[in-house]
Amino acid sequence: MTAVFLEAPRRLVDVTIDGATVRVPEGATLLEACRAQGIDTPTLCYLENLTPVNVCRVCVVEVEGSRTLVPSCSRKAEPGMVVHTASERVSTSRKMVLEFLASTTDLGLAAPEVQRWMREYGVDPLRYGPPAAGNPAGERDAARPGEHHAGDGAVAATARQPVKYDNDAYVRDYSRCILCYKCVEACGDDAQNTFAIAVAGRGFDARISTEYDVTLPGSACVYCGNCIGVCPTGALMPASEFDMRRDGTWDESAQTVTTTICPYCGVGCNLELHVQDNRIIKVTSPLDHDVSNGHLCVKGRFGFEFVQRRAAEA
Ligand code: SF4
Ligand code: SF4
Ligand code: FES
Repeated sequence: MTAVFLEAPRRLVDVTIDGATVRVPEGATLLEACRAQGIDTPTLCYLENLTPVNVCRVCVVEVEGSRTLVPSCSRKAEPGMVVHTASERVSTSRKMVLEFLASTTDLGLAAPEVQRWMREYGVDPLRYGPPAAGNPAGERDAARPGEHHAGDGAVAATARQPVKYDNDAYVRDYSRCILCYKCVEACGDDAQNTFAIAVAGRGFDARISTEYDVTLPGSACVYCGNCIGVCPTGALMPASEFDMRRDGTWDESAQTVTTTICPYCGVGCNLELHVQDNRIIKVTSPLDHDVSNGHLCVKGRFGFEFVQRRAAEA
């Protein structure tokens, strides 16, 4: 006889958010409860297909009885919680997070909702002064913990530095990196289990790095590009997109996106083919597909050149 295991129904939890009672399944986060209520809540380090790491703190909310603001992306809803998402304390905290990031990094290519949050929270990165000159290549990578030299206060320190373009697949522009850890999680045990990149350094000198800061071809990287897929700021970008942006030919209004199945093996990953001028220029993967969950391997993400070659030869 076959044993049948029925999943126990999840208990429901009532919380009060901005004065309204919200009922969510036990184990749901406050972010999920807010979104169920239609409350727009900014997030930077959170993504549905990754384990929350709680590093950006832009999603904070105020919970009555809690001394500090709590990150909604990871804090579970508890019965009777009273939550405020739009208090002055919450708004000021979110604004400061976005402002510090915008004053030290280039958010010009960040996702449209990030740009919108910066407008809505009144972010003014220039109030910390004009940005300091960029860092020479390798300077931030060589910074040693505990040896950070404070600036003179006349200019705002930045992470600006030359782009790392050391392979044919993708480019690392850490002037745009907000240290959200998403790439580290995707390269690590949330998806790829390769652990080619991690956070090195401390404080303002913290940065994403390969082991011993070797080039990407010299590292453990297998070019799955899952780090690119989760990066919210354009710090990691396919070389094809980077080249087109540099040459002024990147035109999103002229692009179409077609969802299809990867032809390379039987796993059945979903691919989104970004096409411009009848050429595939980038491949992404939808987060909500239960086979690939937004992740791919090197063949699915970068192995599209053969299509162009055959078309050219035909
Ligand atoms: S391409 Fe894949 S293996 Fe390489 S750093 Fe990114 S996530 Fe890690
Ligand atoms: S490179 Fe992108 S994904 Fe990685 S920490 Fe920086 S901003 Fe986040
Ligand atoms: S999104 Fe919650 S801490 Fe970053």
